[in-house]
Amino acid sequence: MEKKNYSILEKIDQLGLVLFGESNKDILHSVGPTYQTQVKNAFDIDRPSIGPKYALMKVTNRCNSGCIYCNHSIYSTTPVSQNEPSTQEIKHTIDEVANIGALSINLTGGEPLLRQDLPEIVQYIYEKNLVSILLTNGLILEKRWSEFIPKHLDCMLLTLDSFDPKLYSIQRGADFSHAWAGFESSLKLRDSSPSTSVFVTVTVTRSNLLELPKIVEKLSEYDVPVWFSPYHHYNINEVDENTPSDSKEIEEVINTLLAMQENGYPIANSQTYLKQFGPFFLKSAQLPDWYRCYAGYIGVYIDAELNVRPCWSWSLPVVGNLRKQDLDSIWNSELFYQQRKRIKNLDCSRCWLLCTAEPSIRFLVWGKNQS
Ligand SMILES: C[S@@+](CC[C@H](N)C(=O)[O-])C[C@H]1O[C@@H](n2cnc3c(N)ncnc32)[C@H](O)[C@@H]1O
Ligand code: SF4
Ligand code: SF4
Repeated sequence: MEKKNYSILEKIDQLGLVLFGESNKDILHSVGPTYQTQVKNAFDIDRPSIGPKYALMKVTNRCNSGCIYCNHSIYSTTPVSQNEPSTQEIKHTIDEVANIGALSINLTGGEPLLRQDLPEIVQYIYEKNLVSILLTNGLILEKRWSEFIPKHLDCMLLTLDSFDPKLYSIQRGADFSHAWAGFESSLKLRDSSPSTSVFVTVTVTRSNLLELPKIVEKLSEYDVPVWFSPYHHYNINEVDENTPSDSKEIEEVINTLLAMQENGYPIANSQTYLKQFGPFFLKSAQLPDWYRCYAGYIGVYIDAELNVRPCWSWSLPVVGNLRKQDLDSIWNSELFYQQRKRIKNLDCSRCWLLCTAEPSIRFLVWGKNQS
């Protein structure tokens, strides 16, 4: 295998920090160990003495895509909420997130680009001195990318599950030509606005498993790092044809990815995370014995009705609503404490999603070797 040597690797390392709320390494080294001790103490008593480091915020439930695995799909039978937050409410929420001491906001959905005011929201995050991260399917980015040039977007994560047009449209329910145009637009944004990093995320299913090394090869041509995340089957009563089930294939692909990463290919995941894909897929979402989830301790989740939740999962209840309460009181409420106890015991739907498992892994190994 050809040895790659990407300057982008430095950026990957930084993204790990950005995603988890530290925008540069100096901050990590100075506050990291103290923060880790504070959270570990909080974990023992379920009561953090400090606020979350990052917020995941769903700015809409609407979507323009039809992904087979997502409950926001345009084909989903779940009703779309009419209760979407206004621009003012989103800005108020950003104020709350800043006031509680978080360092980054991850804008997600549904499809965030469907909001006309998204550039204004990104600009407001910048004004509040927070790191902005945008998760998007990119389908309408071609029309909108230039609006973000002056808005100081820190990071764009574009979900692009395949470079095979047929496979893409089966898995994502949308035309690949729009996704490709979105990808090219994200590169134009990166070139026009050097402070914006661009990453691709790939949701790994039975259909695209064998394509993963090719995806990495292709993305390396554009200096774009990739995050992999395993497909999660939410309804255990349904036949699940999307979960990879061939143990040999999974092992070979993961080993290839690990070797590619060793050789400098731009794969942003930790090795610990990638190595768990096999057990996760094959053994009914098994998590490692040593694993602790820090959702609700280091991060907070705000849905598109301004409900606050410990994490994305509906297995844990809403713990408050920002239309009625402030984030600080919700974060320190008895209800939130009770849910943290459940998280500590993994009394939840359990997951190995990028947005919570990678921060938790990095948090668990903070100060040690990050692999
Ligand atoms: C819900 S989407 C919202 C942002 C945007 N619409 C997008 O697709 O990137 C955020 C991420 O969740 C992933 N996702 C959705 N359903 C999933 C599932 N059942 N298992 C794993 N990841 C899933 C998507 O592929 C995407 O990367
Ligand atoms: S584009 Fe994103 S929100 Fe929409 S259906 Fe796909 S994964 Fe879900
Ligand atoms: S393991 Fe997943 S479902 Fe459980 S608390 Fe953590 S993020 Fe939520």
